[in-house]
Parts: sequence; structure tokens; C-alpha cells
Amino acid sequence: MAASPEIFRAQPLENGDSSLPVVQRRVLPIYRLTTQFMKPDCEMLDIGTYDGFGVVELLNSAEGKVKHLTSIDIDPKMLARALSRSEINQELEQKGLHLVQMDARNLALPNNCIDLVTLIEVIGVGLENSDDPLADWRKILNESARVLKNDGTLIFTFRDILDSYPDETIEWDTFSANDGGLKGIPLNKGALEQDIGAIFEEVMWYGQILMERDGRVPGRIYYKEDNVIHTFWNSQAFIPIEKTQIDVWEKRLGANYFPLFWIGIAKYPRK
Ligand SMILES: C[S@@+](CC[C@H](N)C(=O)[O-])C[C@H]1O[C@@H](n2cnc3c(N)ncnc32)[C@H](O)[C@@H]1O
Repeated sequence: MAASPEIFRAQPLENGDSSLPVVQRRVLPIYRLTTQFMKPDCEMLDIGTYDGFGVVELLNSAEGKVKHLTSIDIDPKMLARALSRSEINQELEQKGLHLVQMDARNLALPNNCIDLVTLIEVIGVGLENSDDPLADWRKILNESARVLKNDGTLIFTFRDILDSYPDETIEWDTFSANDGGLKGIPLNKGALEQDIGAIFEEVMWYGQILMERDGRVPGRIYYKEDNVIHTFWNSQAFIPIEKTQIDVWEKRLGANYFPLFWIGIAKYPRK
């Protein structure tokens, strides 16, 4: 078995985020990565507000760079849920937050008005109830490109479902059991890459949760207690890693690492 990349060798135990549910611990680094792509006076659109966890993170780590953050969800129940969060208050409104019910397939926004669109955990999970998820993904992609300025950026995530994924990834099928379980739909990076390439000039990829072909997850810790095997996620498992870096490891270590989740940063919408 190939050695793990150095990044996973010195594994600190849980950090301060460990009290959060695993899904939030996983999306947190994605939202934090997003702040790197914010311009000063950034006009932002966040698609899929869900329970508001992400927008709170976005605005709190934005360091004043965001002028307006419009976060939309198709489901009014989700917006009500977000509004019931204690952190979603006047202070965040002053930081530019607007929560709006809107369908991302048909954005009620003018052309060329947004610098940054975030589409985090929507395709592949949130669109589960859709009749045609791939058609919906393309509509959202086109709508995002339309509302983005010429130098705008779209950040999106999805889980790349390959047949070879081991059973233990199943837990990721459910974003939140309380919502009846948002099951993943099969998506494939190769296919999505083509769609993205047709609509955006540049795409940079990050991977999250690296796995080896045998199913081993370097960022997951296994230990035995009372003859029972327990596992927990090391916080480093969730770090978004640049695709170029993953390629370097593959070459050097001969291991075949592939991310369970992809984060795409698409720039310069073709108009
Ligand atoms: C899994 S949640 C997103 C979680 C959140 N972005 C995060 O990362 O914490 C997916 C959300 O997308 C919303 N959604 C699904 N289809 C949508 C559409 N066509 N337009 C807007 N929101 C949509 C769902 O209602 C759900 O709240």
C-alpha cells in the first residue's frame, strides 16, 4: 500500500470545529476557501441557503469584502429555517445579507451584476427531487454565467460518484436525515467538466476527502476500543486540495488518489 501524502501524516486530533456535525465540518472549509475569491465590494449570490450555516460563515470570514450577499433558496421552509438562526440578525443584514426565495434555474436578476456565485452542495444533493438533474444543472450554470460580470467567478461543489467507491462513502448520501435525506444523484466530473468548459473560459479544480482506490481515506482515523472499530474524521480530511497538488502526489507516490468531492472554481463566463 502506498504511503499517505505528508499532509496526512502528522494528524492532530480534533480541532475546535469538532463539535459541529460532520457535514458542516466538511462544508466549512469550502466556504472559507470561497473568501479567497472575493473582490473588494463583492456582489455575491449564494444558491441554496439551506439552514443558513454557509452564509453566516461566508459573511463572518469575508473581512468586509462583501458588499451584498443575496442568498436564495427555492424552498421557503429552508429560508424560514435560516431566519430562525440566532446568527442571522440585523448585524448580518448590515453586512449585506438578503435572503430571497428564488429558483436558480430562472434567476430574477439582471445580466452582469454579480462578481461571485456560490453553488455549494446543491447539484448532486439539493436537486435530488428534480425530474432531470442534469438539465437543471445546465440551466443553473447558464443562469449563473448570465448574471455574472465578465470577470466573474462561480464556485460549485459536487460528489463524483464512481462505481468503484467503497460502501463506507454511503454516509455522504444524506446531507441531513432531518430533511428526509437528500440523496446524491450520480454525477461524473468528466461530463460536468464538458458543460463547464462550454460556458466558462477557465476552471480550477480542488478535491476534498482524498481516497485511494482500495477505499482507504488518509484523513480518516480508525481505532479499536473494546474490540469495536471506531472511526472519526480528522479535520485535515476536509481540507480542499488543489488538483495539481493531487497530481504531484500521484506521480511521486505512485498512489491513485481521487477526491470524493470536487470543488470547481470557474472564471470568465463566455458571453
Ligand atoms: C444541501 S442544501 C445546500 C447547503 C448549503 N449551501 C451548505 O453548503 O451548507 C441544498 C439546497 O438547495 C436548495 N435548492 C435546490 N434546488 C434549488 C433551485 N432550483 N433553486 C434554488 N435553491 C435550490 C434546496 O432547497 C436546499 O436548501
